[in-house]
Amino acid sequence: MCGIFAYLNYHVPRTRREILEILLKGLRRLEYRGYDSAGVGIDGGNVKDWETNGRSIQLIKQRGKVKALEDEIHKTQDMDLDVEFDVHLGIAHTRWATHGEPSPVNSHPHRSDKKNEFIVIHNGIITNYKDLRKFLESKGYEFESETDTESIAKLMKYMYDNRENDDLSFDTLVERVTQQLEGAFALVFKSVHYPGQAVGTRRGGPLLIGVRCDHKLSTDHIPILYRSTGKDKKACTSLPRLDQDTCLFPVEEKAVEYYFASDASAVIEHTNRVIFLEDDDVAAVSDGRLSIHRIKRTVGDHPARAIQTLQMELQQIMKGNYSSFMQKEIFEQPESVVNTMRGRVNFDENTVTLGGLKDHIKEILRCRRLILIACGTSYHAGVATRQVLEELTELPVMVELASDFLDRNTPVFRDDVCFFISQSGETADSLMALRYCKERGALTVGITNTVGSSISRETDCGVHINAGPEIGVASTKAYTSQFVALILFALMMSSDRISMQPRRREIIQGLKIMPDLIKEVLSLDDEIHHLATELYQQKSVLIMGRGYHYATCLEGALKIKEITYMHSEGILAGELKHGPLALVDKLMPVIMIIMRDHTYNKCQNALQQVVARQGRPIVVCDKDDYETIKNSSRTINVPHCVDCLQGILSVIPLQLLSFHLAVLRGYDVDCPRNLAKSVTVE
Ligand code: F6R
Repeated sequence: MCGIFAYLNYHVPRTRREILEILLKGLRRLEYRGYDSAGVGIDGGNVKDWETNGRSIQLIKQRGKVKALEDEIHKTQDMDLDVEFDVHLGIAHTRWATHGEPSPVNSHPHRSDKKNEFIVIHNGIITNYKDLRKFLESKGYEFESETDTESIAKLMKYMYDNRENDDLSFDTLVERVTQQLEGAFALVFKSVHYPGQAVGTRRGGPLLIGVRCDHKLSTDHIPILYRSTGKDKKACTSLPRLDQDTCLFPVEEKAVEYYFASDASAVIEHTNRVIFLEDDDVAAVSDGRLSIHRIKRTVGDHPARAIQTLQMELQQIMKGNYSSFMQKEIFEQPESVVNTMRGRVNFDENTVTLGGLKDHIKEILRCRRLILIACGTSYHAGVATRQVLEELTELPVMVELASDFLDRNTPVFRDDVCFFISQSGETADSLMALRYCKERGALTVGITNTVGSSISRETDCGVHINAGPEIGVASTKAYTSQFVALILFALMMSSDRISMQPRRREIIQGLKIMPDLIKEVLSLDDEIHHLATELYQQKSVLIMGRGYHYATCLEGALKIKEITYMHSEGILAGELKHGPLALVDKLMPVIMIIMRDHTYNKCQNALQQVVARQGRPIVVCDKDDYETIKNSSRTINVPHCVDCLQGILSVIPLQLLSFHLAVLRGYDVDCPRNLAKSVTVE
C-alpha cells in the first residue's frame, strides 16, 4: 500500500541519469504495493548556478504505473541528465490512492510550496489532516492536492519558518512535525535547506534503511539517541552529540550509500545490510552518517537497532521465465512448502520443532483457547487448519477477521494465545488487533513471511513461514505455507500425547510427500487452462464445499474475484439449502470440492441437490474416487493425501484457474485494479 524509496549517495559520484535509474528501479520493485501513480524528487537545475540562484528541487510525477513515470522523465526537456553529484538525495514513491484520485497533482512527493523547499513521500493515512489543513490555510497556505500528505509538507515549512533558532536540525524539525500527526505513516523528507541530508520516520507503516559501502562498518548496531530519559518532566531540546558510538558511517568516513524503502525487495540488489526502524524512530543521514533518535526512553525499549543481513536473493524477486509473479509463485509451491518445513520436521522420528515457539510451548499448552486473527487469504489459512488444530491441541480455536475482531471489542484474556497470520506482517488491521491483544495480556504469536516486519517484531514469539518473497498481489504460496506452518504448530503441541501418535505419524508422513503431490496437481495446468477458456466469459462462479475444504472455497472465490473481476462466492455446502441453492440453474457455473473424508456423503448429497436443479458442476475430487468421476459431467482429479492436508492440494487448481481466467480476460494478474499488496491502512 504505497511504496516509498529514497537513495542517498555520499562521496559516491553519480550522474542525474544514474540516480533516476536507481530510483525507478526501486519503484519497480515496490510497484506491487500500489500502482495508481508515481513520482520522484531530485536536485534540479544546473549545479553551477546553485551558488547564485540557490539550490532547487525538481519534481516529476505521473498518473499510472512506474513505466508512465519513466516515459515522463524521458520527455522532460529542462533536465541535464549528465550532471554529476558527489552527494545527493533522491526520493521516490509509487501510490495506492486513499485521499484523492490518481493524478499527477495527487501523486507524491508532495511539496511545501511552489519553490519545493520541503518535499515528502508518505505511506499510510493522516487522520487529522483536515484540522492541519484548516490551520495551515488560516496561515495563508494554499493547497494544490486533495491528499492528506500535502499538509505534512506544508507543516514542515510552517514550523521551519517559525523556528526559534537558526541551528534547527532537519531531524528535530521532522520530529516536531510528526508530533502533530495522527494516523499511520512512514515518511521520508528532502529539503533545499538541508542539502544532501535525509530524514525518515515511521509510525504504523514499514520503513527500513539499506547501507552499502566498500569499507567495514564501524559497528553492527546503532544505539538510539534519546532527547529525554522519560523521567524528565520536560524533554531536553537538543540531542546528545553525534559521535562514533551513536551513528553509523564507514570506518574511514569514506563513500557510503543509503536506501530508505518500504520493504527489502527494493534494496536487495544494492545491499543486504539493513536496519528495520521501529515506530517513532527518527533516522537521519547527515554528512554521510546515519543516526537514529527517539523522543523519550520508555520501559522495554531496545536501546539499539541492529544492522541485519538479509537472506533474500535477487533471483527470488525476479519473474524468471514466468509471465507474472503470481504464476511463478503458484509454481514455486513444491519448494516453498519444503522451505516452511526445512530444519523443523524430522520425518524419520516423526518430530516437529519450531524454534521460535519452543520456549513458550508449556505456556501455550496451559492456555484457555487459541485465537487465530488475520485478513483475506491469511484468514482462510486459519479457517483451513482450525479443525486439525482443535483435534491435536484439544483446545477451543476461534478464527477471526482482524477488522471484525476489533469492531466487536472481542473479550481477550491473559490466558488466551492469539495468533497473527500475515504474509506481509504489516497489515494494519492485524497489527491493531495484535496491539489490542497485547494490552490485554494475551500471549501473541506471529505467523509471517516477512522477516523484520512489524508483526514479527511485535509478537512475543512466532514462526516464519519462509515461503520467500511473494510479490503477486494475489497471495498463493504464502497460503499453502501458512497452512503448513499451522499444521506444524498443531503437531508440536501434540508431541507428548500418546494417543495421538498414530495420527501425528500419518500427518507427518503426508507432509513428507506433499511437494511431489503438489507437483502432480501443477501438472494439471493445461487441463485447467482449457477449462478457463470455457469459463472466462461468464459473469459469476460459485464454489462449494465443506469441512476441510470450506476454506478452499473461500480462497478460490477470493482469487477469482480479485484478479478476474468476476463475481465469485465460496459457499459452505451445508448451507446450500438455506439460501444459495436458489442461485443454481443450468447456466450458473458451479465448482464443487468433494474429497474422500468424513464429509464425503454429505458432499454427495449437495452434488445431487445441485444436479437436481440442472446444475452441471465441475468437481474437484480425488483421482481414485471413481464413483464421483463417473457421476459428474466434469472433474479435476487431484492426488489423495491425509484429510487435513488435502486442502493444500484442492486450492491449487483454483489458483491456476483464477490465473488463466484473468489472462484470458486480458487483465494484469500481478496488479489487479483497486488493490495493493500489504494493506497498511485500516
Ligand atoms: C488476497 C490477498 C489478501 C491478503 C490480505 C492480508 O490474495 O493477498 O487478501 O491475504 O490483505 O495480507 P497479509 O497476509 O499480508 O496480512
